[in-house]
Amino acid sequence: VNPCILFASVYDKPDEWRDALRALVPSLDFRVYPDVQQAEDIEAALVWRHPLGMVKQLPNLKLVINLGAGVNHIFDDPDLPPDLTVARLVDPGQTAQISAYVAQHVLAMHRQMPELRRAQNESRWNYIHPMPASECRVGLLGLGNLGRASAELLGRLGFSLFGWSRTQRELAGVSCHSGVDGLQQVLSQSDILVCLLPLTPSTTDLLDARAFARMPKGAAFINAGRGATVVEGDLLAALDSGHIRHAVLDVFRQEPLPAEHRFWQHPAVTVTPHNAAVAEARSSAPQVIDNLMRLRDGRPFINVVDRSAGY
Ligand SMILES: NC(=O)c1ccc[n+]([C@@H]2O[C@H](COP(=O)([O-])OP(=O)(O)OC[C@H]3O[C@@H](n4cnc5c(N)ncnc54)[C@H](OP(=O)(O)O)[C@@H]3O)[C@@H](O)[C@H]2O)c1
Repeated sequence: VNPCILFASVYDKPDEWRDALRALVPSLDFRVYPDVQQAEDIEAALVWRHPLGMVKQLPNLKLVINLGAGVNHIFDDPDLPPDLTVARLVDPGQTAQISAYVAQHVLAMHRQMPELRRAQNESRWNYIHPMPASECRVGLLGLGNLGRASAELLGRLGFSLFGWSRTQRELAGVSCHSGVDGLQQVLSQSDILVCLLPLTPSTTDLLDARAFARMPKGAAFINAGRGATVVEGDLLAALDSGHIRHAVLDVFRQEPLPAEHRFWQHPAVTVTPHNAAVAEARSSAPQVIDNLMRLRDGRPFINVVDRSAGY
């Protein structure tokens, strides 16, 4: 049987994915939405922010593979059948990109780059005595695929690491916490807080005024998870008061970030346009093909999303 997959993303290049997948299965029937002729052939879809109404057009759809790690957009589709399997990509290329992004901005916060930039703008020699990385505590919210890889890289750079996850984890070199009390402990010890949480009902609005107040005065915040985990008005208030000295934000409640949003012009905010990391076609293709073969053979899928947990 020739596998058939429907590609639906306006953010990713279909040719790259078709070439990477066909390099493994030359006969692959690869269709690009809205080309759904003979819709009954389509049993799998590879999607990022797929158009609403698409799933309804596919009577034999058995597997949706998210073109990335964060699956919350898929669940925004009211037509998604409750028993449809949703899988995601766990891509080594994306993992390397996100840990590099985290390390880049943790280092920038640790080495006071915003302060040095301000001083340079004023031709002012502002000698800031460097502090060893081991004296800087970095808290990681989310110890999944991306959080663990970031912890590993930050550990090699010498930072003191704290981590938080839903279930209790054990990671070499990381003081791991879970649950409500665990969050308070991580917040209160984070000189730099990095959020790599998925967006689910339990992580929505998690970082609010109380959470920011819990962090040490002058702490920095980096969000590469999802925007709606943060109450943006509360973060702005914490930045205005100086309690949070700087925020690096890659994700927002509304994307693209509206031109009038205060984050753009705030002197203590660095905005990146949700480009911390993307799944790479070549390094992800084997797991997509693996799941198509599992579909063909009726074997259990890999990288399946737990729909009750939402990630
Ligand atoms: N900015 C970007 O470009 C970009 C790129 C890729 C991904 N992302 C975001 O990064 C997120 C994480 O990706 P991943 O591959 O690391 O996901 P993952 O492997 O599923 O890990 C998620 C982590 O978050 C923890 N978690 C989930 N719900 C929680 C809760 N209510 N309380 C505490 N911890 C909770 C999980 O706990 P357990 O360990 O107990 O399961 C796990 O450690 C994605 O969902 C996506 O939103 C952003």
